[in-house]
Amino acid sequence: MNDDQRLPLWQQLQAVTHVLHAIRQGQSGTAALAAVAPALRPGVQALCFEVLRSLGRAQALRKLLAPRNPPTLVDALLCTALALLWHPQHATYDAFTLVNQAVESAKRTPALKAKAAFVNACLRRFLRERDALVSQTDGDLVARWNHPAWWVHQLQTDWPTQWQSILAAADQHAPMVLRVNARHGTPADYLKKLLDDGIPAKMVGAFGIVLEYACGVQQLPGFNEGWVSVQDSAAQLAAPLLLTGLAQSSDQLRLLDACAAPGGKTAHLLELVDARVTALDMDPQRCERIHQTLERLSLCAKVVPADAADVSAWWDGTLFDAILLDAPCSASGIVRRHPDIRWLRRQTDIAQLAAIQARLLKRLWPLLKPGGRLLYCTCSVFKAEGEQQIATFLAHHSQAKILASPGHLLPRGDQPTAMHTDNPSGDHDGFYYALLEKTAA
Ligand SMILES: C[S@@+](CC[C@H](N)C(=O)[O-])C[C@H]1O[C@@H](n2cnc3c(N)ncnc32)[C@H](O)[C@@H]1O
Repeated sequence: MNDDQRLPLWQQLQAVTHVLHAIRQGQSGTAALAAVAPALRPGVQALCFEVLRSLGRAQALRKLLAPRNPPTLVDALLCTALALLWHPQHATYDAFTLVNQAVESAKRTPALKAKAAFVNACLRRFLRERDALVSQTDGDLVARWNHPAWWVHQLQTDWPTQWQSILAAADQHAPMVLRVNARHGTPADYLKKLLDDGIPAKMVGAFGIVLEYACGVQQLPGFNEGWVSVQDSAAQLAAPLLLTGLAQSSDQLRLLDACAAPGGKTAHLLELVDARVTALDMDPQRCERIHQTLERLSLCAKVVPADAADVSAWWDGTLFDAILLDAPCSASGIVRRHPDIRWLRRQTDIAQLAAIQARLLKRLWPLLKPGGRLLYCTCSVFKAEGEQQIATFLAHHSQAKILASPGHLLPRGDQPTAMHTDNPSGDHDGFYYALLEKTAA
């Protein structure tokens, strides 16, 4: 048990309630957690993630216990407690302790103090009638799958046979995966170092190592020296997909990473090849993170804060050999790492994001040399941001030809990682990859 977990539970529940409340007001989980005192943050983050993974169930139970909507902060506290209580086998805390501490948290929060007796009554009733109440919520789609109804319906449409395993994977804990810097050593060498240091792990993919237990990056041998980076195994496919078989002219390759921050894939490209890389991101603060990533790994790229679609503002007129477009997307493939995403997205976001992706594709395509390649990817499991997007693009661009591509990689927590077969699924984030080649006119 670490220090933060020894802090009183009521204090952690109080912080989780505020974070959940902020997320429901539209703040990202990362921003809401940044407001939590540093000493509390790791424990609060772990509890928050548990709550977000059971929020659909908790909301349905809260409606049964308090059919008239209580004030939003009271609702957030009740949902926090119910999410942590509802499943006896998955509960981290003894149920009576949790209820006592939730009530204590209400008593110690000025805005909730007057409602402490109400919170107490709801949660004690839940303890008395748990089985009956839980079974009453079993037929509720949102309670069953802990995702908004529109999200479940979209997955049912897109993936009629896989939607359940995609949703189940979203509620699992994501493994910590490392990418070994090919300029420094091989995954086999690094695995040996980890095992020598007592960090159990195994190799995954061509460059990856998956740790049995997550740990702080400072515990990883050579992290500060750039021997490894943290990157999911699905994301590790981007750089080799773009580079393998790419025709190399006598000049150094000119590569564009159009949506680059925080620089994970830019760095992987540079670990694999000597190239002139332009790394764009429209968010100047996130560009700073590209600089930090490259500095730690002793790599070099031209980092430009710009809207990639506004080509006249940043392009010097020289065509690129290859373009990586890791486009902004719903992030529906990485919900196990960011369980807030599913509750923050709106159904209308998907069409809006697809329009942004289409615009980026259309504007960047002319910047590619004939014979060059563009790798389009998103960390989404929705077809509108993947195969439908590319089908539309191909229909309107006669010079675009699709090369062998992974297509949609579907997360599936009960399967070993298997990313090199058709329609692959496994223990990795959800991703979509399409590798396009520009044929001569
Ligand atoms: C999926 S993230 C990129 C992750 C990155 N490729 C990596 O591997 O570390 C998408 C990025 O696109 C940036 N972005 C969104 N719209 C953009 C645009 N029009 N031009 C450039 N960057 C954009 C966002 O700021 C965000 O950093």
